[in-house]
Amino acid sequence: LVAALEEVEETYIMVKPDGVQRGLVGEIISRFEKKGFKLTGLKLFQCPKELAEEHYKDLKAKPFFPVLIEYITSGPVVCMAWEGVGVVASARKLIGSTNPLQAEPGTIRGDLAVQTGRNVVHGSDSPENGKREIALWFKEGEIVQWTSALVSWLR
Ligand code: TYD
Repeated sequence: LVAALEEVEETYIMVKPDGVQRGLVGEIISRFEKKGFKLTGLKLFQCPKELAEEHYKDLKAKPFFPVLIEYITSGPVVCMAWEGVGVVASARKLIGSTNPLQAEPGTIRGDLAVQTGRNVVHGSDSPENGKREIALWFKEGEIVQWTSALVSWLR
């Protein structure tokens, strides 16, 4: 009842090129699915350089920026939009720390990655960025609103 009063958020989750190439797409989708969030967008996509630069524009001044852009555009990514109460912070928790060596076991990065520069998955860091990134990575019509006929709490 309390949760029903809280705001439904949306977050942009992306399996990065290393995650796709290592065959971790199903495993990563599964973590969010099992947690109980609702998938509203999903596609395999080759990211152009301009989009990667726009997505990571806040990091433009960082020394690792060019390498980051090269990595994100090095092969297809899997773009996802997930919806749910508290989904932004919860997804960040499921993903774990940016540096996989500091990510707790049980998190995606803690279980599946070693290097910061190959940390297999992205998740939006705020509800505002969730909206911004979904609008950036998906076209109109690619986000699908749906209601589960089986579980009323999946909303
Ligand atoms: P950031 O937004 O700080 O982390 P997160 O992905 O956990 O929200 O950084 C974006 C990505 O940039 C990060 O996933 C991997 C890369 N990165 C580096 O390659 N080196 C670094 O030192 C940092 C901080 C990030």
